[in-house]
Amino acid sequence: MASPHSSDTAPEQRPELFDRLSHEAVHTPSSGIIGIRTYAAGRKDVVPLWVGEGCMPTPSFICEAASQALKDGETFYTHQRGIPELREAIASYHERLYGRPFSTERFFVTGSGMQAIQIAVRIVAGPGDEIVLPSPAWPNLGAAVQVASARPVEVPLTFSPEGWHLDLDKLFAACNERTKALFINSPSNPTGWVASADQIRAILDFARERDLWIIADEIYTRFYYGEDRATAPSFYEICEDDDKILFVNSMSKNWAMTGWRVGWLSAPPALGEIIGNLIQYSTSGVAPFMQRAAVAALNDGELFVTEQIERARIGRTKLLDAFQGHNSVKYAPPMGSFYFFFGLEGVTDALPMTRKLVDEAGVGLAPGFAFGQSGSAFMRLCFATDPDQMDSAIQRLTYWLSRR
Ligand SMILES: Cc1ncc(COP(=O)(O)O)c(C=O)c1O
Repeated sequence: MASPHSSDTAPEQRPELFDRLSHEAVHTPSSGIIGIRTYAAGRKDVVPLWVGEGCMPTPSFICEAASQALKDGETFYTHQRGIPELREAIASYHERLYGRPFSTERFFVTGSGMQAIQIAVRIVAGPGDEIVLPSPAWPNLGAAVQVASARPVEVPLTFSPEGWHLDLDKLFAACNERTKALFINSPSNPTGWVASADQIRAILDFARERDLWIIADEIYTRFYYGEDRATAPSFYEICEDDDKILFVNSMSKNWAMTGWRVGWLSAPPALGEIIGNLIQYSTSGVAPFMQRAAVAALNDGELFVTEQIERARIGRTKLLDAFQGHNSVKYAPPMGSFYFFFGLEGVTDALPMTRKLVDEAGVGLAPGFAFGQSGSAFMRLCFATDPDQMDSAIQRLTYWLSRR
């Protein structure tokens, strides 16, 4: 996962500070997404589409639920697995989405989707173990595996203008006796690739046969652009309650709550004590007033989620319309999530270009190397933003391209 662009240079600068630190702490690479933000720090004239969030603030009814809980004195230590009301709200949300009952006992509230990922990885893998994942992938997935002293094994998706494709034979061939889990992020950040229902079935069959865990990151499942169904195909549609699947999820994207840092992990209820322990020994639970906000979001936020999805849909259409005739731009229409992952013909390393785009076009994009070697030629643009911002970014990008 380490890349030539990661800023992994600190040990040389002050060796005496680093020589007694853990290998994982020192060698886990910095996020290339954060890197470009740092590069453009202080630039007010840049349209910031590098991170995975739009410009909508959290709806006020959600903020008010948190304020009310604070006023009500909800400032004490809390349930390590999450307050019962939130676990129930999460279970009901899944019931509405998948049309079947879910036990509240399988849901664990975490301090972000990222913490859910960390816990999931920690549960299944440790030193010497491997976790296989399709790439390009959100950098934090592989980094979480590295922090757990395990090894991420990337299986590159293949790019064609029709779409990114996962070759299941390659995915399965990457598994060996050290493999503990398959990490499947569908819809994918950054490519917009979506696993088909048949692929989901085949991956579950393979994992069952080989006794592997699946970590299913389906946080973008509502952002699906196929005509055939409302949400992306999910392991929830075919799995049994005690299948070895850990689902990670988040309040961040659907409800515009990226700064709140609340998410959840969904696991066979038998793992309750283990997961509760890992939460206890990290954060000891999520602040109760933030959990109240999450309850409000889940119970009363459906209209807002629909608007978020519509905003992303509009952004996607605008981009596809704008780039349709540009032969120098290579991309596959994203089928899910809310990222446009594109490159320019003849450019194999897009990092210098993302800097140029900041300096010359005033558009902030994430460089593809951040998502693994197979993404180096691409740049990621988040289109879950308001239409005016999208128009402005498209105008700047197309003008810049026309002068290249
Ligand atoms: C694929 C994927 N999983 C998980 C997350 C984690 O979200 P958060 O930590 O904001 O809850 C993100 C955030 O960008 C993501 O893109």
